[in-house]
Amino acid sequence: MNILVIHGPNLNLLGRREPEIYGRFTLNRLNALIKEHAAAKKAKVRIFQSNCEGRIIDLIAANMAWADWLIINPAAYTHYSFAIRDAIKGSGLPAVEVHLSDTAKREPFRRISVTKAVCVKQIRGLGHNSYLTAIDFALKNEKKHK
Ligand code: DQA
Repeated sequence: MNILVIHGPNLNLLGRREPEIYGRFTLNRLNALIKEHAAAKKAKVRIFQSNCEGRIIDLIAANMAWADWLIINPAAYTHYSFAIRDAIKGSGLPAVEVHLSDTAKREPFRRISVTKAVCVKQIRGLGHNSYLTAIDFALKNEKKHK
């Protein structure tokens, strides 16, 4: 299985950015864990991070033919980007929306996800394990989406 992983804006700052909320893992460390977890389960991953809405949309389009699943943390775009929502839907890929923090228990604006409805599942609040759980979910549900 080929899994496209996309991290949205400000996730390049992981480890330094509000560690009490997002943890002390850097993005490199998180990506290493994702790669290790996927490799152990014989899945292939392509991982990208971008702070730009248009770049995220281009990355989905450029990799959709290769990918079987999309795991995306749209970060703040979660709460208002109809363009990313359209890109996820338009790709036809089954997607899991992930968040490190529990967005339901934070400021009211974070409770709104405009991307959730075009994803098969939302996983939040598990820190780096949100991504690993998303990989497991994709592998478990592989056949249902073929
Ligand atoms: C986040 C939650 C978002 O509300 C926030 O804007 C982020 C990260 C998370 O992973 O917890 O940048 O998506």
